[in-house]
Amino acid sequence: MRILGIETSCDDTGAAIYDERDGLVANRLASQVELHSLYGGVVPELAARDHIRKLLPLVESLIHDSKNNGKAADAVAYTAGPGLAGALLVGASVASGLAYAWNVPTIPVHHMEGHLLAPMLETPAPEFPFLALLVSGGHTQLVDVARAGEYRILGQTRDDAAGEAFDKTAKALGLDYPGGPAIANCALQGQEGRFEFSRPMTRHAGLDFSFSGLKTQVLTTVQQQRLDAQTTADIALAFELAVVDTLAIKCLRALTISRRKRLIVSGGVGANRRLRERLRSECQKLGTEVFFPRLEFCTDNGAMIAYAGYFRWTLNGHGNRQNFHGGFDVKPRWSLEDLSSISRAQR
Ligand code: KG4
Ligand code: ZN
Repeated sequence: MRILGIETSCDDTGAAIYDERDGLVANRLASQVELHSLYGGVVPELAARDHIRKLLPLVESLIHDSKNNGKAADAVAYTAGPGLAGALLVGASVASGLAYAWNVPTIPVHHMEGHLLAPMLETPAPEFPFLALLVSGGHTQLVDVARAGEYRILGQTRDDAAGEAFDKTAKALGLDYPGGPAIANCALQGQEGRFEFSRPMTRHAGLDFSFSGLKTQVLTTVQQQRLDAQTTADIALAFELAVVDTLAIKCLRALTISRRKRLIVSGGVGANRRLRERLRSECQKLGTEVFFPRLEFCTDNGAMIAYAGYFRWTLNGHGNRQNFHGGFDVKPRWSLEDLSSISRAQR
């Protein structure tokens, strides 16, 4: 079984091939960072048009990758949601066209399930059950995963996602898009202790997050300062430490509540080195195993979608294969918890 995975939910065009026996066979990514950096954020219509330009050549080069030997796939998995509607439609329609041409099934994939399963592409891969911290540009969630495909959201952001807060704060500081890597880089020159921002909602019981107030605190600070290079770095560091501390406090609380002994961390912000180091050292103290995808699989990519397609196919007991006969759907808004009943029905 060889699955082609297609990712087009936001500003990265990703395609990859996952093989049941050989694992990840080939992987390609076309980033749109340059296109959107002019505007300081993703412009949905431009994202969709760029996916149209990039996706088919990307798939073609993937199929002809020397490790794939020009083989077509046995199924085509694509991100069906959540994400930008126009961007999702490009991936869904290309996936459906290819599946029709090859006479193979399509497998619609939930983007956040893709992120959640990304650590499975590493060795050692985590076993179920585990707690997942999903931190991306659109989501910040703590998810209890009791068994394969069963998700209970224990806490999530009430406003901005952690990645979104990085992006907006970077803009306020005059740094590049995407803000996460820009802030992390700039913070390397920062001096700790000059600025201090709050750790939102950590004094409240519960596992929800809120990052929009933190972003406003930074903005107010920026307006009160002369923003030279050192001040920018000092603010960037204080902001990064506040986000990392907040995420770590809530993760530890969720581990206590859920009594899980494994933590997986994924999504774009999961590439943050300070966050990785902090969670590694906290988990070591607790005797909890922690798993991250490699850096390039934290942010959006086709490999996690190909793997999630394979995962859905195995959950389905390899049965019920329906080849593509026209019609497809995308879900710009879609809760991860909705997958639990589908997973149970498929068992
Ligand atoms: O998962 P992702 O690629 O796309 C979404 O599904 O949203 O996440 C993108 C987000 C952006 O907000 C970006 O600023 C953030 O991940 N990000 C980071 C880092 N690398 C990417 N945030 C903090 N530190 C990083 N090193
Ligand atoms: Zn993502």
